[in-house]
Amino acid sequence: MVKNSQENVFLGNEMISKKDGILHIDGYKIEEIAEKYGTPLYIMSETQIKNNFEKYTQAFNRYTEETGKEVIFSFAYKANTNLAITTLLNKMGCGADVVSSGELYIAKLSKVPSNKIVFNGNCKLVEEIKMGIETDIRAFNVDGISDLILINETAKEMGKIANVSFRVNPNVDPKTHPKISTGLKKNKFGLDIEDGTALKAIKMALEMENVNVVGIHCHIGSQLTQIDPFIEEANKLMEFIVSLSEEGIKMRDLNIGGGLGIPYDKNTKIPVQDDLAKAVIDTIMTYSDKIELPNLIIEPGRSIVGTSGILVGKTIHRKETKVANWIMIDAGMNDMMRPAIYEAYHEITPCTIREGTEEVLNIAGGLCESSDVFGKDRKIPTIQVGDYVAVLDVGAYGISMANNYNSRGKPAMVLTNENEISLIRERESLSDLIAKDRVPNHLL
Ligand SMILES: Cc1ncc(COP(=O)(O)O)c(C=O)c1O
Repeated sequence: MVKNSQENVFLGNEMISKKDGILHIDGYKIEEIAEKYGTPLYIMSETQIKNNFEKYTQAFNRYTEETGKEVIFSFAYKANTNLAITTLLNKMGCGADVVSSGELYIAKLSKVPSNKIVFNGNCKLVEEIKMGIETDIRAFNVDGISDLILINETAKEMGKIANVSFRVNPNVDPKTHPKISTGLKKNKFGLDIEDGTALKAIKMALEMENVNVVGIHCHIGSQLTQIDPFIEEANKLMEFIVSLSEEGIKMRDLNIGGGLGIPYDKNTKIPVQDDLAKAVIDTIMTYSDKIELPNLIIEPGRSIVGTSGILVGKTIHRKETKVANWIMIDAGMNDMMRPAIYEAYHEITPCTIREGTEEVLNIAGGLCESSDVFGKDRKIPTIQVGDYVAVLDVGAYGISMANNYNSRGKPAMVLTNENEISLIRERESLSDLIAKDRVPNHLL
């Protein structure tokens, strides 16, 4: 496939460029990739993932330089668990935040060192806890008192000791979409600091024989577009850690969760890795005269992979009604759920830009649901039947939330870098759709 040098960055996505009206990703024509691999197709840019992750390591390096303490990045696997992506991140030194035995399995296959794996979740199952203990992970983030008891009992049965951190609920408003807010009292996650439940759980754990208390954890929400909530979170966590140290309880790790947003809407400026690092490190450092500072763990998902992915669909129909002009593409909400479930905004663009032909379009998939619409009232260059259309910034919570609704196979996925294009997920076939179904004898 012929590669063109990047002429100009498109819509702020570093790896997407436009040359003579034709969009490229990592220097390759998107349309040619779509022709070769078919649609719907996820295209992930390795270059962009590397850039996003390197921005994190560079920004947080100061913490290690100034405190001598470790900074561990545990990629939130729920954002994207494709094995090529998780292997790439492991190669770059990134750990794993997992929430199921499936994600832990993928982390192990990706060869993530056990001391960079943390296990989250408010309802961990015994089999999952066992697998985490067998893997000797860095910590289970305990979400409730009964979760703690279950971890201790499971470890006891296995004759092992499990490392535990405590997910606290700091009651901080993340100022994000309510469906992805997690650190308010009304949310289901974590142990309340204010009413003393968190302290009670930690003291219980210190009396238990099969858990080892290692840290404090918190995650206040996802797609945060302001820095203030992170500062408020860091202050509440550090105040809690200081109050614990006054009772003689020392915490090795402070895990601040993930949550940094990405600029889905290119007109809105939002904080980047440097802003997050400055805010968090400056806040934590103000406590350095009170305690020995902890290691820092961060669990970003979206801000590592979100901007690196696009979903390409082919235009099958145009439908012009009195109300709107509709573009129907072969990708649908089963491939990418975010607009349907969160009313999330994603930039949408034809892959060939016919300059000066802007019109207002609705872009929809082909599923039998009115919510199967990727974007409404978009003023974009015209799209004709047969044109390829890209939905941008779908690298996080895209393929990982994809499903088989309307019995559609999940899409294929390729990874691009400056040297090559690799297929990293095969398109699901018709037989894949029924592979796990069984018809009982009396119906045959
Ligand atoms: C506990 C935990 N950590 C990290 C993340 C990652 O969040 P984000 O993708 O916004 O960085 C999530 C996402 O929901 C989470 O629940």
